Amino acid sequence: MSSGLSDSGKGAGLMGPQSNKKVWAIGGGKGGVGKSLVTANISICLALMGYKVVAVDLDLGGANLHTCLGLPIPELTLSDYVSKKVTRFEDLLVKTPIPNLMIVSGAQDEIGIANLKHMHKNKIISKLHDVDADFILFDLGAGTSFNTVDFFISADRGILVSLPEPTSIENTYRFIKTVYYRRLKMLEGFLDIEPLINQAMNAKLSSPNSSPTDMVRKVIEINPQMGMRLRQEIARFQPCLILNQVRSQADIDIGFSIQSVCRRYFGIEMDYVGYLDHDAAVWQSVKKRKPLLMEFPNSKLVHHFDRIVHRLLGVS
Ligand SMILES: Nc1ncnc2c1ncn2[C@@H]1O[C@H](COP(=O)(O)OP(=O)(O)O)[C@@H](O)[C@H]1O
Ligand SMILES: [Mg+2]
Repeated sequence: MSSGLSDSGKGAGLMGPQSNKKVWAIGGGKGGVGKSLVTANISICLALMGYKVVAVDLDLGGANLHTCLGLPIPELTLSDYVSKKVTRFEDLLVKTPIPNLMIVSGAQDEIGIANLKHMHKNKIISKLHDVDADFILFDLGAGTSFNTVDFFISADRGILVSLPEPTSIENTYRFIKTVYYRRLKMLEGFLDIEPLINQAMNAKLSSPNSSPTDMVRKVIEINPQMGMRLRQEIARFQPCLILNQVRSQADIDIGFSIQSVCRRYFGIEMDYVGYLDHDAAVWQSVKKRKPLLMEFPNSKLVHHFDRIVHRLLGVS
């Protein structure tokens, strides 16, 4: 196991003396890109470092985080809370064989996240943020439904997982665009600039002078105060990116291209926090129903996870 993971001293030093809990959401537009794998293994890394971690499966239509953690389907799931079978949210927390790591399981029935009513969603978001832990990780489902996007926005840090292939990259941009738009829509005074924003959102990536960054420039000309507010909101949107299943240096470099498109087109600073190799160890561990990080602690992939977690913690 690489050095960082066996460090049991979690130390306030890593998070600063006023540290309190952090909520990280792992999303990305497409299914099957490795969101659950990433959530599971980042959670294990943090737990092994001594942090108290709760991983939450919010892929309510296709919950499988438990499998990546090598667990059977937990008895109580979020759908039992939504259906009021369980009234105390804390009762959904299930222990795992890994010390410091607990899981809240997603639904196993047809209650898709897209169908979660507004009120339920807000309640679940607030309950999740109240959970007693150092880190709460959200494993989001595919797609750009309002609910998935709102879980993502509610987090302190949004982490996008993408594959280095066109369909996944397109979905990543689509996800970013949806989050970007939804954040701006929440701004006070949005209605005054809605037509301009809609125009920018409907423009193609390639169309000249109509990107979101051009839109912000136009708003600043028309209404400087609103324009500055837009700029501030956009500056606060700093998603992280993990490229999964890379097979070459060219694949790794795609992360930098995505970063540069985001800067030019959306005017946002994306943090490319690392990549993960395509590795047969993943399906071998899934097949054995064991978490990758525990089954292959010396693999290259686990070393990559270690690097990513240190980067996310701001210590490398
Ligand atoms: N780095 C990788 N190397 C090899 N296979 C991978 C890798 N990441 C993911 N996979 C495969 O892709 C499948 C989907 O991963 P998963 O984490 O369930 O995706 P998501 O949660 O985004 O739908 C996994 O079962 C695994 O077999
Ligand atoms: Mg998943």
